[in-house]
Amino acid sequence: MRPITKQQKKVLDFIKSFIKRNSFPPTLEEIASGLKLSAVSTVHQHVNALIHKGHLQKRENFARAIEIKKEAKISDFIEIPLLGLIAAGAPIATVERPELIKVPREFVVGTKKHHALRVQGHSMQDAEIFNGDIVVICEQTNIEDGGIGVALVNGKATLKKIYWEKTRYRLQPANTEYQPIYVKNKDLEIRGRLTGIVRSRFELVTKEGNLLPLTRTANTFDQRLQINNRRFIGNKSKLLGFISDIVAEKCGSYQSFCDIFAGTGAVANHFSRPGVKVIANDLLGSSYNSLKCWLETTTYDTERITGLISHLNNLKTSGQNYISKNFGGTYFTPANAKKIGAIREEIETLQVTPQEKAILLTSLIYAMDKVANTVGHYEAYRKTLDTTQEIKLLVPDINVQNNQNNKVYNKDANKLVREIECDVLYIDPPYNSRQYGDSYHLLENVVTWKKPKVLGVAKKMEERGHLKSKYCLKSAPEAFRDLILNAKTKHILLSYNNTAESKNTRSNATISDKWILETLKMRGKVDTFERDYKGFTTGKSDASGNSERVFYCRVTN
Ligand SMILES: C[S@@+](CC[C@H](N)C(=O)[O-])C[C@H]1O[C@@H](n2cnc3c(N)ncnc32)[C@H](O)[C@@H]1O
Repeated sequence: MRPITKQQKKVLDFIKSFIKRNSFPPTLEEIASGLKLSAVSTVHQHVNALIHKGHLQKRENFARAIEIKKEAKISDFIEIPLLGLIAAGAPIATVERPELIKVPREFVVGTKKHHALRVQGHSMQDAEIFNGDIVVICEQTNIEDGGIGVALVNGKATLKKIYWEKTRYRLQPANTEYQPIYVKNKDLEIRGRLTGIVRSRFELVTKEGNLLPLTRTANTFDQRLQINNRRFIGNKSKLLGFISDIVAEKCGSYQSFCDIFAGTGAVANHFSRPGVKVIANDLLGSSYNSLKCWLETTTYDTERITGLISHLNNLKTSGQNYISKNFGGTYFTPANAKKIGAIREEIETLQVTPQEKAILLTSLIYAMDKVANTVGHYEAYRKTLDTTQEIKLLVPDINVQNNQNNKVYNKDANKLVREIECDVLYIDPPYNSRQYGDSYHLLENVVTWKKPKVLGVAKKMEERGHLKSKYCLKSAPEAFRDLILNAKTKHILLSYNNTAESKNTRSNATISDKWILETLKMRGKVDTFERDYKGFTTGKSDASGNSERVFYCRVTN
């Protein structure tokens, strides 16, 4: 471990004592407020330095991801029961569906009994407890004032910060969109205290093998599809905290948020909430379709969708079809390819609304991604077809309350920017010469379903010209300047990684830092935020040393 400065030591000591007190690590805001530092970005820098110097480490898949560095071993995990759902919103009844999951041993306090619950709702998101996360609860009947715990109100459980106010309890959400709940002493029972959070939407296993996957006993969990359950080059699902911190620090309150290169929609979805209009856009039809599903669905009949998806899962396949002929035995097992073709054909014949069709296609695309014999894109398939898992469609978990004001587009960003206005404009263009239309040609093919002739070893559709992005070409700097100069917004955030000088020319960023800064400064003052990130690569290049940067510009001109 390398030596640290006085200020870094203060931050490290604070984190250690916070963990000792709470059993989970602090957020950047909590460190800033605990140390009376006004800028979260300063804390961010200290934390990054402590990681570089080997004193801290980050677990990508965990909320409140900072931890004191130590080597994890299998014995560092413990099995506890996962009892069901817990509301992070209005109280709902917990569903008792016990199964066992492994969680880090440090989440468990002494010899007390613990259990885990899956969070449903968004009321605790500012405490970095998100919809779909799993929380570990130490069973106890009291809690310190302001502690996060499970309260039972009239027989229904909710996860909140719990305050005692003389004659009543205040259950305080960590999300300004939600109101506190006041409950008389006699109507409330404390069931436990939060001791750990597991970000469950991702696979819980690292290449180094120092984390175990979340295991669950077979067929006991009613799985729902989450927006981030897919592989997509450049997706920002693991950087949401970083982006959120910057928005919180720089943008204050906002009514509209535009994610103009939305891809999976992970960022747009993160900022989608009641009272905010989210605009999401992407050039790819397959991305647009999923954006419609996740961000534009304002109401849907869950039972009907569940029935339709179960019908698609149970379809019997017979002869060969477009997908099995073109992609069977390469991208998919022959059986899965047949099934995908049959399901896609069936979706075309079902009597469904356009919104339902977007939901079904999204479910299909995500399911294909899980069983594809690829490294996460369709530029090539792996030589050995060892992916034997059978394709299974899941019902998307769509938060319709958040979507009431949203609008989704399928346009070139430079065209759209001239048509819209927003408070915050988030820009996450492709960084290099790899065209997304090439990487995801197969999904595009399945969504558009024109069954074109496919060419070459990678079996790409011949006609992909309309999917070509200027941001992957030499014209990227000019396109970027045009976008910035035409943006009608108050705040601009640009994500761009630092591969401009990379040795692999295909991976080289197409816009230089100098050009980015010069361009953004035409609109106002610029701040740069940086974070290490082991990016999702195309499988060939080594992305170590990559860092993700967010350039922030307060628009004044
Ligand atoms: C880096 S990815 C965005 C990832 C996204 N933030 C996420 O978290 O999933 C860039 C996206 O920009 C889209 N794109 C490329 N050129 C575009 C253009 N001219 N207009 C709109 N979208 C474009 C690509 O299809 C791709 O989905």
